[in-house]
Amino acid sequence: MSDASLSARALQNLLGDWRGGLPGAAYLALADRVRLLVLDGRVSVDTRLPAERELADRLGVSRTTVTAAYRHLREQGYLRSLRGSGSVARIPGAPAVLPVPPAATHLDLSKAAPPALPWLAEVARDAADELPAHLGDSGFDPIGMPALRQAIADRYGVRGLPTRSEQIMVTIGAQHAIGLLARVLVGRGDRAVIEAPTYPHAYEALQLAGARLVPVPVAPHDPRFDGGVPPHGDEVEALERALARTNPSTAYLMPDFQNPTGRSLDADARRRLLDVAARQGTVVIADETTAELDIDRDRAPLPLAAYGPPGTAVLIGSLGKTVWGGVRIGWIRAEPPLIRRLLAARLPGDLGTPILEQLIATRLIGRMDEILELRRSELRAGRDRVETLIAELFPDWRVPHVDGGIAVWIGLGAPISSQLALAARAQGLLIAAGPRFGIDGAFERFLRLPICQPVAETEAAVHALRRAWESMPGVAAADAGLLPAVV
Ligand SMILES: Cc1ncc(COP(=O)(O)O)c(C=O)c1O
Repeated sequence: MSDASLSARALQNLLGDWRGGLPGAAYLALADRVRLLVLDGRVSVDTRLPAERELADRLGVSRTTVTAAYRHLREQGYLRSLRGSGSVARIPGAPAVLPVPPAATHLDLSKAAPPALPWLAEVARDAADELPAHLGDSGFDPIGMPALRQAIADRYGVRGLPTRSEQIMVTIGAQHAIGLLARVLVGRGDRAVIEAPTYPHAYEALQLAGARLVPVPVAPHDPRFDGGVPPHGDEVEALERALARTNPSTAYLMPDFQNPTGRSLDADARRRLLDVAARQGTVVIADETTAELDIDRDRAPLPLAAYGPPGTAVLIGSLGKTVWGGVRIGWIRAEPPLIRRLLAARLPGDLGTPILEQLIATRLIGRMDEILELRRSELRAGRDRVETLIAELFPDWRVPHVDGGIAVWIGLGAPISSQLALAARAQGLLIAAGPRFGIDGAFERFLRLPICQPVAETEAAVHALRRAWESMPGVAAADAGLLPAVV
């Protein structure tokens, strides 16, 4: 069993607005929210929960409420009490393993990732034919095969950012790239600016490296909505201020089709951010995993590194969102001195990227225009269907219009995202609640809905959400306009 324990304060932060202003027994609302935190992985299995009295004091509820919530969780199999050492989080039927593999019967929209490219198996077969030519080498390749590094560099060239292959390191997916960069760039106690909401495993990697996070609000920019959505300019100013005032060693940003909001930074914003970063000595990690997933953007700005002095922005890319998550190929574009430091930091963790995967990736990157054309038409179909179906089934929800990316960040009008995600499970749909993308339980009023799934699955998911919504008694009232939080 791990020694991890959660203080009452930390749990309170994660719980956020756990009552959500809805009617019903407080102990059930509390138990439900803890259950979602465990299912989501925000509270890891084997983590010790705070003592009942301590939590009751912190939340300002009676001890009986917490006792009843813990009892309920125990009965459902989400808590185990250990004599003399409190209660630890569990998942029923999964002794110490996270995340729980989704049941085959569930539609999984907790991951915003496209299905595998239809011609992937064919490309893999062709790449396997090429393998014998490489079997004479040791096979340990921590930097990347020359042909693949060149293909990645050339792709940046096509996007308007001339790049040499020495500026590229091939990694095992973009997540590996983020983890490596965090280990190399972040010193314990350093500040790291992140967008809020953001891609959770990125800030987890920064935290693991010892960073103190400085979240800056991001909002999808949609001129159709006023109020509640800060205009683009405010966001850029807030980022500039955070960079200037907190002197972070790094900032992790998604300049294009941010996950989950879908917003992109224009050329002017990119220039301004890199100006400040260069002055402060901050390295901006630009996650471009979805940068090429344009649906109908007017004009694509250049990759972030084009807007500042060399070394100010490090770029990350991957095949996960264009080809398939199962092809574990990503990369880093950085100046050669940083590539050398990354290489030194990599070896204690892993000895290189698989050769066969690299052969597959080299072929795929050469066909990127064709791949993007397919993905663009799928994303357009997904986005358009989500917009019409949500307007039909949830007229009060706000779906900001995105011009690319993999998801929409829906405004629910009430702080019920976690409850809805739990209710959706009962309807066969796995979906990540808004707070999964924030720190400290924020974003309870939002839900990320992927647009990159096949349209039939997206439709089934939205219908499951509707059934889930109807199964939430408090929400049915809200739907009828009885709760003032709904606008
Ligand atoms: C923004 C972002 N960055 C990085 C990753 C990780 O990508 P990979 O599968 O290449 O490791 C993801 C995957 O969901 C993502 O959404």
